[in-house]
Amino acid sequence: MIERRLEAIRALLEEQGLDAVVVTKYVNLHYFSGFRGDDTTLVISKDKAALITDNRYTEQAGQQAPLFEIVEQQEGLLSKTTEVVKSFGCQKVAFEGNALIYDDFQKLTELLTGVEFTTALHLDKLREIKDKEEISYIRRACQIADKAFEEVLTYIKPGVTELAVAARLENAMRENGSEKPSFTTIVASGLRGSLPHGTATDKVIEAGELVTMDFGGMYQGYCSDITRTICVGEASDRQRFIYNKVLDAQKMALGLIKPGASGKTVDLAVREALDKDDLGKYFGHGLGHSLGLEIHESPRLSSKSTCESLQPGMLVTDEPGVYIPGWGGLRIEDTVLVTESGSEALTCANKDFIEIR
Ligand code: GLY
Ligand code: MN
Repeated sequence: MIERRLEAIRALLEEQGLDAVVVTKYVNLHYFSGFRGDDTTLVISKDKAALITDNRYTEQAGQQAPLFEIVEQQEGLLSKTTEVVKSFGCQKVAFEGNALIYDDFQKLTELLTGVEFTTALHLDKLREIKDKEEISYIRRACQIADKAFEEVLTYIKPGVTELAVAARLENAMRENGSEKPSFTTIVASGLRGSLPHGTATDKVIEAGELVTMDFGGMYQGYCSDITRTICVGEASDRQRFIYNKVLDAQKMALGLIKPGASGKTVDLAVREALDKDDLGKYFGHGLGHSLGLEIHESPRLSSKSTCESLQPGMLVTDEPGVYIPGWGGLRIEDTVLVTESGSEALTCANKDFIEIR
């Protein structure tokens, strides 16, 4: 698995006439070496691979990154990285354009005398299609989130705060095997429901309010992402109506997510469906994003998506929402796998309209 990832990097080096790349992004350290720690660099050349770290991680790196020569630094990460690049005899070396901070770029440029260090590579692209093992980890992260939703339903009632609901969700995910939340848990109730990213506050949830919960777990470094909206007490006709329209659109998108579909088309279809009831104008964000080691990855499902053609093994979220300032809002989201023949929702928690009484 790591072999195949290194092959992919080396093909990129070949294609661009490069001798090596210095990898610095946290999730890419993991993806290309197997190592799960920070303050580390990888130097990957056409025929060599080194992992430069410090004493906190030397033993761990030896266990997790067996295909890499482990180099322990004491004098500074960037100067040791420079030493390794020079010892590999590399002339033309790339960096991660979306990950190397400017100060470190300047420092490396100074240190790498005699080396051309001007090419930015974007390695995230190599993570777009997930392999079987990655899919199994994401599937597990999704099951963990499903379980947490089931458990939190027994807890939500008028009088509890959004923060308490978030704590229950996060604790239930931990108890079911999650390493940590995959992002800051969103719990937006009542009027706060119009905030698409309303992270939990000390607001007390009251009867008659919709509660949007957007959360995810992490398993072996891989994320899940799910949103469910429920009503505490009896819903109004408008709440029920809008919920069912969003649900219909969300289900329709599941049918459109398949190999060959473009990121723009799927997004547009959902917008048009919501527009039939004049709700499209309240749906201000893209329909979905990919996820994996990061919670937001490419490809996207949106009006700006550059994805011409979804491929089997890609993951996308399907998350339409309606947000009406002064009224509230709701969203329904699943993590979805693109399969050979269509799509499979990996989050499976109940999404029929739930009224907690
Ligand atoms: N579920 C959080 C997000 O998609 O931004
Ligand atoms: Mn999402």
